[in-house]
Amino acid sequence: MMQWARGGGKGFCGTCGSLTAACVIANMICDNETANQIVLELHNWYCDTKFPSDLINKMASNKELYVDDYKTTEKLTQVKPDSILCHVSVTRWCMESGYASGSSERSERCARVAADCAYKLTELLNQVADGTFKRKYKIPNEVNQCRSCHSKGKPYDKGHWSRGKMRCSNCHDHNPEGTAKHVKPGHFQEYFKKQNK
Ligand code: HEC
Ligand code: HEC
Repeated sequence: MMQWARGGGKGFCGTCGSLTAACVIANMICDNETANQIVLELHNWYCDTKFPSDLINKMASNKELYVDDYKTTEKLTQVKPDSILCHVSVTRWCMESGYASGSSERSERCARVAADCAYKLTELLNQVADGTFKRKYKIPNEVNQCRSCHSKGKPYDKGHWSRGKMRCSNCHDHNPEGTAKHVKPGHFQEYFKKQNK
């Protein structure tokens, strides 16, 4: 069912397939309301987690995972993607580890990301079952700042011709003046000037 999501959608490198798979399973098991909360938690957790985690790196080194085949049992470099995108997650890992995207170490790294996602999902589902689930990972403040104008919303002129919860600074410049790539400092001041007229 999830094999299409390899490489973030047959190599298009959209959302990481392991993250997608975990979200699908949350929706299969939980009511929509609960699944939505798990999906948000998983997305924010994914951005903020150094993959592969210590636990999964160690289990792989000791051959304790439920697979017969390991591409390598070495402890792999741990990198935080700061993005849900396969493209960013893989590229940042390759640049830091020095392994090519077509290397067997990169395949093993992504297999371990799959293990991490499965582990995290299980942990969250157990919390739901125990009635102790509470979201822990958050959308960073810088992102919410941009989202105050560019999230899904009605007033077009204010910036609501865009939407999203990704980390804006991955693709748009980000600094205390709130500039974005191709935008002059304080770009939205024009909007307020027009409003005040
Ligand atoms: C107070 C509302 C507001 C906030 C906060 C805001 N923007 Fe904007 N943004 C606008 C408006 C209005 C425009 C269109 C007018 C303009 O370009 O000045 C715009 C334009 C843009 C554009 C398109 C620029 C272009 O070339 O046309 C990008 C990209 C952008 N914003 C990204 C961001 C990012 C990233 C952040 C957070 C760092 C952010 N914005 C914060 C209101 C806002
Ligand atoms: C993965 C890269 C990526 C991320 C992350 C991202 N954007 Fe964008 N954004 C783009 C691209 C590509 C465009 C289209 C630019 C174009 O065609 O001119 C765009 C367009 C926009 C525009 C409209 C620009 C215009 O010319 O009017 C706004 C506003 C914007 N993004 C805001 C944001 C905000 C706010 C965030 C964070 C919540 C964000 N983006 C996250 C890549 C990204």
